[in-house]
Amino acid sequence: TRVAVVFGGRSSEHAISCVTAGSVLRALDPERYEIVPIGIATDGRWVLESGDPDRLAIAGPDRLPAVDGDRTPATIGDVDVVFPLLHGPWGEDGTIQGMLEMAGVRYVGSGVLASAVGMDKAYLKVVLQAAGLPVLPSITVTVREWVADPAAVRQRVADLGYPAFVKPARGGSSIGIGKAHSADEIDAAVEGALRHDPKVLVEVSAEGAREVEVGVLEALDGGVETTMPAEIRITGDHEFYDFEAKYLPEEATELDVPADVPDATAQEARELAERAFRAVGCEGLARVDFFLMTDGSLIVNELNTMPGFTPLSMFPRMWAASGLDYPALVDRLLSLALQ
Ligand code: DAL
Ligand code: MG
Repeated sequence: TRVAVVFGGRSSEHAISCVTAGSVLRALDPERYEIVPIGIATDGRWVLESGDPDRLAIAGPDRLPAVDGDRTPATIGDVDVVFPLLHGPWGEDGTIQGMLEMAGVRYVGSGVLASAVGMDKAYLKVVLQAAGLPVLPSITVTVREWVADPAAVRQRVADLGYPAFVKPARGGSSIGIGKAHSADEIDAAVEGALRHDPKVLVEVSAEGAREVEVGVLEALDGGVETTMPAEIRITGDHEFYDFEAKYLPEEATELDVPADVPDATAQEARELAERAFRAVGCEGLARVDFFLMTDGSLIVNELNTMPGFTPLSMFPRMWAASGLDYPALVDRLLSLALQ
């Protein structure tokens, strides 16, 4: 089976995609799969990469991996399946999925619409809410609205309430996310997020909430399986699960796999994760992230259609804890795509 592993890409999560790809390349059995490693440079050029997993690791806080090949192939030949290991816009958002649909090529994961909905935090809420799933109150602010009438935007945020998180609507890995504790901080937070996306989401902060995540995987018989929830505990001086806490191993983040929560909460998280997966129309895989509020209720924070697969990432660790190790997980995803 010839597998094109596509990674890098134009989004701000380029480096994370490279790290994810390094782990997946290491896990693919060379006896079973012929691997075609394709990097997408930050300017959008497609290049044939070496596929050396070691080159794709994070070497330090300012030594993130990147696609740098200059070898733009005239053709990559036929492939049986594409593994689009891209995070963020231009890859996790339905764009490459659309291109592959057009070309009639099989690929791992969700299709065009589910990818696009999962990527856009504002639309995701519309879909989840329509399915009766709990989400945090939020407003959407576009760059036009901000430039035209910042006072009106400030008033809408004040009506929503502080503290508030400001997020690029189509971002990932916490890049561009800021917290505004009060009205004094809202301008900087909105402008910071607008640098990453002309549309931002301002969301009530779930103060004191715990962060738990559930892995979802399609079964070969068409059913949906979920992992036990796992918890992220920020033990260092990070106010939230930001980029450094996510990916730099020296940062103090504890992942509890599985989470230490009551059985009823674990069960509810798994049910909500499956409902979110179905509501969005996901295929293959997803990771559904929750806030476990101080009153014990669960709120869906987001859904990632191509969750990180780095060595520090939750998704593969949750599946390993549920009895599916990394090579078996990758095999399952490819088998689903080839079905
Ligand atoms: N967006 C990152 C890769 C994640 O959700 O894991
Ligand atoms: Mg994300």
